[in-house]
Amino acid sequence: MADMEGNIEAKDYGIGTEQSSGSFFLKGNESADWGVKNRLARIFNPKSGNTVMLAFDHGYIMGPTSGLERMDLSIVPLIPYADCIMCTRGALRSVVPPESGKPLALRFSAGSTILTELNNECLIGIEDAVKLDASALAPMVAVGGTFEAKTIENLARCADFTSRYGIPTLGVTAVGKELVRDARYLGLATRVCAENGANFVKTYYCEEGFEKVVAACPVPIVIAGGKKLPERDALELAYKAISSGARGVDMGRNIFQSECPVGMINAVRAVVHDGAKPEQAFEIYRSFLKA
Ligand code: R5P
Repeated sequence: MADMEGNIEAKDYGIGTEQSSGSFFLKGNESADWGVKNRLARIFNPKSGNTVMLAFDHGYIMGPTSGLERMDLSIVPLIPYADCIMCTRGALRSVVPPESGKPLALRFSAGSTILTELNNECLIGIEDAVKLDASALAPMVAVGGTFEAKTIENLARCADFTSRYGIPTLGVTAVGKELVRDARYLGLATRVCAENGANFVKTYYCEEGFEKVVAACPVPIVIAGGKKLPERDALELAYKAISSGARGVDMGRNIFQSECPVGMINAVRAVVHDGAKPEQAFEIYRSFLKA
């Protein structure tokens, strides 16, 4: 028990200085619970306001994708450079060292493969997400697809878990083959995710009108990289997305399928956190290639 006598008298009451009511650096999350904000502040760097998420959840739908054949060899060395990792619980438990200390965006829905695509997905149990200390729950949402209602319901259930456990929901917009990734579609899909309770949304960049997609989404957007591009083009894509208001990337193939994945993730970091132009970032990439 603390000593009753001999304590130094309390006197620093800061009289005349208002207690800061605090604000939060990520839009649309000002009213979120402390646990949600705390986890978001691990995923997004509070200084730059942005994040570099390393996505390697592709195997759950695509099987042993190029670059992910041996995640212990290809992905684990990249983890120190990421702000957050995004993967399935299977990949996490089998290859990610618990000591890595990175926040986890847990792939939280399952049920599709490349053979059937955007399917009638189910959610993983919330207990496992809690056990794994997930910093975000990431269900897939297929707006405009056959399973639109089911996947939106999944997102809504995740938002219920967010309210109950303080783990943010990341809405992952999946675009079916028959749909066009234009501003109209992406604006609809991202807004639907936000309106149904997502704390942030992952979507694709589009050349025309991406700034409108970002503006009309009341929570932060991060972009997926998509299919492998030449490194210079992928850096340009990241640069344009950030310049249009995206708060980061959730990038996979353009990092782990690069000729020099460590160089690429460092170059992407320069764009996302330091505002590097594509040319400067490409030089960073090339410097790792030469080394
Ligand atoms: C795909 O199954 C996942 O949602 C990926 O996490 C997402 O597409 C990001 O990876 P990439 O940059 O390779 O598109």
